[in-house]
Formats: sequence, C-alpha cells, structure tokens
Amino acid sequence: MQKLLIKGNRELTGTISISGSKNATLPILAASILAFKAKLKNVPFVKDIFTMLDLLKFIGIKIKINSKNKTIELINSNKNINTLAPYKLVRTMRAGILVLGPLLTKYRKAKVSLPGGCAIGTRPVDLHLFALKKLGAKIKIKDGYIIAEAKKGLIGTSIRFPSNSVGATENALIAAHGAKGKTILYNCAIEPEILDLISYLKKLGSKIKISGRKISIIGKNISFKKINHKIIFDRIEAGTYIIAGALIGKKIKINKVVPKILKYEINVLKKMGAKIISSKNSVTIIKSNNIKRATVSTKPYPGFPTDLQAQLMVLMTQAKGLSKIKENIFENRFMHVPELKRMGAKIEIKNKTAYIYGLTKLTGAEVMATDLRASVSLVLAGLIADKRTIINRIYHLDRGYEFLERKLKKCKASVKRT
Ligand code: UD1
Repeated sequence: MQKLLIKGNRELTGTISISGSKNATLPILAASILAFKAKLKNVPFVKDIFTMLDLLKFIGIKIKINSKNKTIELINSNKNINTLAPYKLVRTMRAGILVLGPLLTKYRKAKVSLPGGCAIGTRPVDLHLFALKKLGAKIKIKDGYIIAEAKKGLIGTSIRFPSNSVGATENALIAAHGAKGKTILYNCAIEPEILDLISYLKKLGSKIKISGRKISIIGKNISFKKINHKIIFDRIEAGTYIIAGALIGKKIKINKVVPKILKYEINVLKKMGAKIISSKNSVTIIKSNNIKRATVSTKPYPGFPTDLQAQLMVLMTQAKGLSKIKENIFENRFMHVPELKRMGAKIEIKNKTAYIYGLTKLTGAEVMATDLRASVSLVLAGLIADKRTIINRIYHLDRGYEFLERKLKKCKASVKRT
C-alpha cells in the first residue's frame, strides 16, 4: 500500500494552479446521460472521476479521455443502455447515486445500488428519493438496491427540501430536466458546483431560474446538440492550498480561481492573521507569525464548507488561545482529530464541537488517512511538523486531489510517495 513521506518545517514558495472541481464534474458527468454529445474541459483526473466514468461506460455511454488536454468526450447514442448502477461501482463513491435521476427521467426506470454509510457519517439518500417520488417515480428498496420507475415519465411539480442537500438538489435538477412541465425546487443547496451543473443543463436546453434557494426549471428531454462545457475550479482544493499558505507560506500564489467564490473562507483566514491578496483569478498568501484564534461553524454554501473543516483545524493548532469548530453537516467528521493528537495537537471534542488549544508544536509521526479531507489535513500537519510524517492509506487522497505531490513539490515542499 502506498504511503506519503513528508519532511516538515520547510517554507513553501511558488505557484499552484488549481484543477477543475471534482464535485462539479461528478453531477455533470451523470447529467451527460441526457446529452447526445458532450465535451467537458478542465476535468480533474482523480480516482472518483474514473469511477464515475466506469459507471457511465457500464450504462452504455461512449467515452473518450484526453488527459493531456484535460477533456472528456461523451456520446450517448441510446444503444444498449443498461439502467443499472451496480454495487461494485457505487460502493466506493457515493456520487454514483447521481445516475438515478438521469436514468429515471430519460429511460423511465433505474436500479441503483444504495451507497451505504461511509466513514464521515450515515449519509442517507432519503432526500434524493423524496424529490424523485414527488416528480412521480414509484420507488422501492429491495436487496440493497433502489428500484425506481416512472412508466409515463416524470412530471414537473413543486418540491420543498426539508434541509439543504447538495446531492439531492443535483439529482432533482437533472431529473427535472427530463420531466414534463415546470418544476420548482425550494430550499435547495446552492453550492457553486450546483450552479455549474445548472449552466450545463441550460446548455442542454433547460430553462432555469434561481432566486436565493429557489430554483425553477422547465426541462427539455431530448437534445441533439453538441455541448461544450468547462468545469469550474475546485474551491476545496484551492481552500486547502490557501490554508497551506497561511500555515507555512513564504509566498504562495494560487492560480485559476475565482476569489469571490472563496470569500467566506478568505475572510476567516484574514481574521486569523494570514496575509491574503486577491486579484481577478488568483490569490496570494503569506503566513503570519501571529495566528489568531477563531470560532467557526460549518454550514451549506455560502457558509464555511465542511470539506475544509479538517484543514482549518490544523491552522487552529498554530493559533494563540482556544479555537472552536462546530461541525453541522456530518455527524462523524472529526476522524482526523486522534491522528492530529498523535502529532502533538491538543484537541477535545464535545458533541458537535472541537476545541483546539493552540499554540502547539506538531511533531512528525506515522498516521493514517481515514477519508479524503481528513487525509489532506494530515498532509498540512506534516508540512509544519518537526521531523518526518508518514501518511498511510493515501488512496483516500487520490480520490480527490490531482497531482498533490507535484503541486506541493513545485512550492519546495519535501513530499514523496513510496
Ligand atoms: C456533497 C459533497 C461533499 C460535501 C457535502 C456537503 C459531492 C460529490 N460531495 O456531498 O464533498 O462534504 O456535499 O457540502 O459533491 N442528507 C440526508 N438525506 C439525504 C441526503 C443528505 O439526510 O438524502 C444529509 C447528509 O447526511 C448530511 C447533509 O444532508 O448531513 C448534507 O449532505 P449533502 O449535501 O447531501 O452531501 P453530499 O451531496 O453527499
């Protein structure tokens, strides 16, 4: 099994270009079941994307990958379509559930494996099913599979989500694209990745209006146009490297981003003392020698993202005084805490809140990655720790961070995969 070796305490300096967003690409790939021909640009070639591509191939979509140009072409000629998403392909990546909406809306039936729990929480799919039922689907659960059908096709309606769910909003939007008439979704998640999906669905012919958390959509089932779409930047990858800069950056420039999308995160870091200069498409960060304590709660966009909670916690270990993070989105997302403690961090967890006592010196240790964002927080900790950190189970990192070692090495970090 591969490991990452990091020799810490080396100031970072250089430029990092941010990849396309994994979390935007996944629903756009699923929505491509509804396209005739689509070309996606700025695709991040990370493990989760390949898993989704395997799923689409299984369904019957033809795929051409050009990793040099970071593009993927998809063709759905409607031949030999399999409306099944098997367990082996959904098990390792929950976003597999996103093919349910498009299969059901286009082919009027789908059998999709239940994704099951995952390390960060139970992660149910009730809201996905709730929205699809409202659109007219008949759904039953049998032998670990969601079996859905809509014999006469889905029909537009009004749906109010009881809480904001990224995946359920995406599934409902894609399903509404193929539904008859108008669908109005209330209390939606409005993450930038969802806005990217909306811009893709518009290219496919949907008429979509957004007002706060209300999204109305008049769909278009069949399109024979060829679609071109450039995936937006990965705001979580960008946020991760911005935090690396706040921790140990002599000067790091983060390119290919839209700083206004990262406004909340940048403000938190500025208040903590990081020097951050934003321009139109880049952010430059210089660490502060006097990091201040902070209190942060994770929230749906435009709040502080749960996907940056673990990384921010590492910065908090270097702040003076007591910092707090309340995790509101997932019930079990503090798995990085025991590992950070093994490196010398002083952190206590009470209910949903982590109390981080700074300022602590971190020391390299052998640690274990448990999920995607937890793993990258250990990389950040390794970058500021004395001595050598060994991170095990780095396949979690490969699910979502493109060229992590290459990008960090370019900034003079000592990171090696063995
Ligand atoms: C997406 C992101 C993930 C991010 C999360 C929250 C992708 C591929 N993944 O995950 O990186 O951490 O948004 O920003 O884009 N919930 C239900 N029932 C449901 C669905 C969700 O109760 O049917 C709950 C979840 O358990 C969680 C909350 O709603 O507590 C938010 O989850 P959701 O926004 O759906 O996250 P994902 O789409 O799975």
